[in-house]
Amino acid sequence: MQASIIDSAYELLDETILYHNGQPVGTTAAVPTNLSAVNYGDCFIRDFFPSALVFLMKGEYEIVRNFLTTVLRLCDQQERMPGHDFSEGLMPASFEVAATEDGGTKLIADFGDRAIGRVAPVDSAAWWMILLRVYSLTSGDLTLAHSDRFQEGMRKILNLYLHESFEMSPAMLVPDAAFMIDRRMGVYGHPLEIQALFYGMLATAQQLLLPGPANDGLLRIINKRMPALCSYVRLFYWLDEQRLNEIHRYKSEEFGWDAQNLLNIYPETIPDWLDGWLCRNDGYMVGNIGPGKIDFRYFAGGNLLSIIFGLTTDAQGDMIMRLYDSHWDQLAGRMPFKLVYPAVSGQEWALLTGCDPKNSPWSYHNGGNWPCLLWMFTCAAIRTGHADLAARAVEVAGARLLRDRWPEYYDGQMGSLIGRRANLNQTWTATALIIAHQLLDNPDSLAVFEALIST
Ligand code: GLC
Repeated sequence: MQASIIDSAYELLDETILYHNGQPVGTTAAVPTNLSAVNYGDCFIRDFFPSALVFLMKGEYEIVRNFLTTVLRLCDQQERMPGHDFSEGLMPASFEVAATEDGGTKLIADFGDRAIGRVAPVDSAAWWMILLRVYSLTSGDLTLAHSDRFQEGMRKILNLYLHESFEMSPAMLVPDAAFMIDRRMGVYGHPLEIQALFYGMLATAQQLLLPGPANDGLLRIINKRMPALCSYVRLFYWLDEQRLNEIHRYKSEEFGWDAQNLLNIYPETIPDWLDGWLCRNDGYMVGNIGPGKIDFRYFAGGNLLSIIFGLTTDAQGDMIMRLYDSHWDQLAGRMPFKLVYPAVSGQEWALLTGCDPKNSPWSYHNGGNWPCLLWMFTCAAIRTGHADLAARAVEVAGARLLRDRWPEYYDGQMGSLIGRRANLNQTWTATALIIAHQLLDNPDSLAVFEALIST
C-alpha cells in the first residue's frame, strides 16, 4: 500500500483531536467540517478506542491518559430520572467540548439522553476499562489504574454490570441498541458483542483491581463469573455444521432438569440461507440467544471481539477465520467488513428495525460494510494465525478509502457503494486502517496487540 494513504490517515486523525483547557482529551467521530450528523463532533467512547490504540502505538500516552480521566469525571454529569437513583457506573456514549462565554471550554456528556432513539450505551464502560488495561500495560504507568479514584470508578462499574436482575444465564441482559449498533435492529437481549466486551472487561478487572477488603468480594464474583460466561458462550452461541444438524432435529417443549433443547428453539426458525452455508471446517458465534430464540445472523464485531478477548476456543477462532476465507465476497466483499450478515428485508425489516430507512437492506447496520472493523479483524487474524487474510483486507480497503474520502460505511451486498447517508472523513475508518497496517508491517506496534489480548 502506498505510504501516502497511511500518511493521510494520520493527518485525518490529527485534525480530529479535541482540546479542553489546552489539553488533548479525545477525538471527534469525524473531521468536524461538513458533518452530516450533528453529534459527530462529539468524542464517542467506542470510536475513541481505535484512536487510542494509534496514539499508544506512537508512544503518545498523554491524550489517552487525559481521555480516561475525563470520561471517569464525566460520570458525575448524569441526570437523575424522576423516580430513579443515579445509575452509578454508567459511562456516557459521547462527550462534546463546548465553548464557554469567557472563551474557555466545557465538557457536556451524553448518556444516551440526547442520542437518537435514547439508547443506553452499555458498551462504553467496557471499552473504557479495556482501554485502561491497554494503556497501563503499554505505557507501564500503573499509577492511574491503581489510584483510589480509578479503583473506585472500576468498582462502581462492576457493581452495576454484575448487579443481579432477572438473569437465567451468565450472559448479560441489555436493551436494544446498547452498543455499536445503536439503533433498533432486534439486538436486545443477550447480543454477542456485549458478552465479548463484558468478558474483556471482567478480565481487565481481574488484572487491575488491587486485592484488599474493598475489592476482594468483587474479585471472588468475577473469578466465578468469567469461566461460567465463557463456557456458556462457547456452548450456546457456537454454530457449526454439526450443531446446526442437532438444532435441526431438536425436540421442543421439554420440561425439567434433563432437557436437551434448553431454550426451546423450534427448528423451523433456522433461516433458509444457512442450508449449505457452513462447511466442515468453519463456524461462528450466533448473534444473540434467548428463550425460544436464536438470532442466526453473523455479527462481525461480536465474533472478532470474542476471538480477541479469548472468549472463543482456539479451534473456534480458527473456524471463524475459515468462514471469512470461504465467504470472502459475502463477509468482506469490496470493502471489508460486513457488520451483519445477511440483511433483513421485507416484513422482517419492518418489524426488526421499526421501518428505519437508514437501516434498509444491505445498508448501514443492516448488512452495510464498515471499514472500522479492519482493526478488530487484523487483531483476530493475527491471534489465530491468519495474518494473510488481514493483509488481503488491508489491500482491498487501502486502495479505496483515501479516494472515497474515508467513508463511515458502504452499501450493497458486496459493499461496493459508498453508504448513501455515510459521513465522510470518519475517524475510526482512518484509525482502523492505520492499526491494521501497523500490526502487519511494524513489529514494534505488536506491544499494543499483546496488551489487548492479554486476558
Ligand atoms: C453511529 C454508529 C455508532 C458510532 C457513531 C459515531 O451512531 O452506529 O456505533 O459510535 O455513529 O461514529
